[in-house]
Amino acid sequence: MKPVTFNNTVLRDGHQSLAATRMSTEQMLPAAPILDDLGFSGLETWGGATIDSCLRYLNENPFDRLRALKKAAPNTPQIMLLRGQNIVQYTSFPDDVVEAFVRANAAAGQDVFRIFDALNDTRNLATAIKTVLDCKKHARGEICYTTSPVHTITAFVSMGIELEKMGCNSIGIKDMSGILTPKIAYDLVKELKSKLGIPIVLHTHDTAGLGAAAYLAAIDAGVDTVETSITPFANGTGQPDTVRMLALLEGHSRRPDYDPAKLQELRLHFEEVYKQLSKFTSPANERVDSDILVFQVPGGMLSNFRNQLAEQGMADKFDEVVREIPVVREALGWIPLVTPTSQIVGTQAMMNIKFGRWKMICQPAQDIALGKYGKAPGPINPEILALVEKQTGTKAITQRPADLLQPGLENHKKQCAEKGLPATNEIAVLFAMFPQQVEALIKGTPPAEAKPAATPAAEAKPAAPVATPASTSNSASALTHMVLTIDGHRHEVSVEKLSA
Ligand code: CO
Repeated sequence: MKPVTFNNTVLRDGHQSLAATRMSTEQMLPAAPILDDLGFSGLETWGGATIDSCLRYLNENPFDRLRALKKAAPNTPQIMLLRGQNIVQYTSFPDDVVEAFVRANAAAGQDVFRIFDALNDTRNLATAIKTVLDCKKHARGEICYTTSPVHTITAFVSMGIELEKMGCNSIGIKDMSGILTPKIAYDLVKELKSKLGIPIVLHTHDTAGLGAAAYLAAIDAGVDTVETSITPFANGTGQPDTVRMLALLEGHSRRPDYDPAKLQELRLHFEEVYKQLSKFTSPANERVDSDILVFQVPGGMLSNFRNQLAEQGMADKFDEVVREIPVVREALGWIPLVTPTSQIVGTQAMMNIKFGRWKMICQPAQDIALGKYGKAPGPINPEILALVEKQTGTKAITQRPADLLQPGLENHKKQCAEKGLPATNEIAVLFAMFPQQVEALIKGTPPAEAKPAATPAAEAKPAAPVATPASTSNSASALTHMVLTIDGHRHEVSVEKLSA
């Protein structure tokens, strides 16, 4: 078997996981030529929360970052993480906006698109995959890994087969919680390799201390690529460190070769950057968190949780709320816990404990039950669905959520023009997702947090709540408000009492 290859994540997931996504382009650029020289099979540099962070905190145009990194590292494919129909936000966008985003991104130099959907509903990936392929770029279809009675190896493999049929150039296994054990990693990769003809990439997090061992097992099973980072933006809640992975593979027939001197140079550079970002780093992210293995939920979710419970005066209810998570997941069709579903499930679990089970249902959870995020992996509990339908006066949908949306791009361009912003695809697609931030960026009135904020690292949050996630529900009788924290951003959600 040929050597395994490494993608490097330090410029995206590495700092998103360990420093609240605050690494600036300026802090990245000196490392880019070294990363490029190392010959990684890909550099993950864009997407996920980085677009939001560029606009909200760093006063940077994310497309300019991409162009600068392409120039500084021209020889290595650059990878972005795309949330399917949600682009890099939390709700569905119309097809024309998704297409324009992918085209603008491809034109700015993006090579590889990692495309996922929080529900693993492949209909939510179709437009993005098709557009990436139209642009002659690489579409990597992602399978979100989670555990539940409906998430069997057979189910994951059939999703992989479907993604290959949809034209994906490779398949990623996305273990956002770091709960993939070596044995399952081995079996899953082995099975995917036997059924699929395209390369398989494994992406995990070392949050629970399993990451490097899962990679090793996957390499034994024939995985083509694994994703590593550079210390100190590695290990803990991030990807396993490159040097550590190389050491683990010492003497292995599939060990790749990456120049140790250059890796050391990178380490020294990133140690400095890590110090500069000390306001956003936290020892809690750097260590192995066995809570994840006990509770089977993503690490980031638990730290959010502790904050949210404290805000609600429920700090003593932590264990009870965590035990409620599987109850909520099961009722909502065993949805994976990944942005934004992890936050929605967490909030609903908290409400079940606070108000009594299903006495109040938050609007995003209603929307999941109603199919507005897509098809859940398992059946929605019929009693909960009936309650939600009664409460909202609407019926569950079975079609692809974006089929209900009108085209939006021309309207966003018109709005840009009205505000005196360039009505280009690039600006319009950013404006569609982050209107205030884009206007502030272009008009040179950066948001207050564009400078490093004085927020404590562990709870680096913006001062002002951003817009409530768009929802299609119309009910007006909100009784109370709760705050939903997504990727560190606070969202107010209204909560209604059920008549039943
Ligand atoms: Co990740």
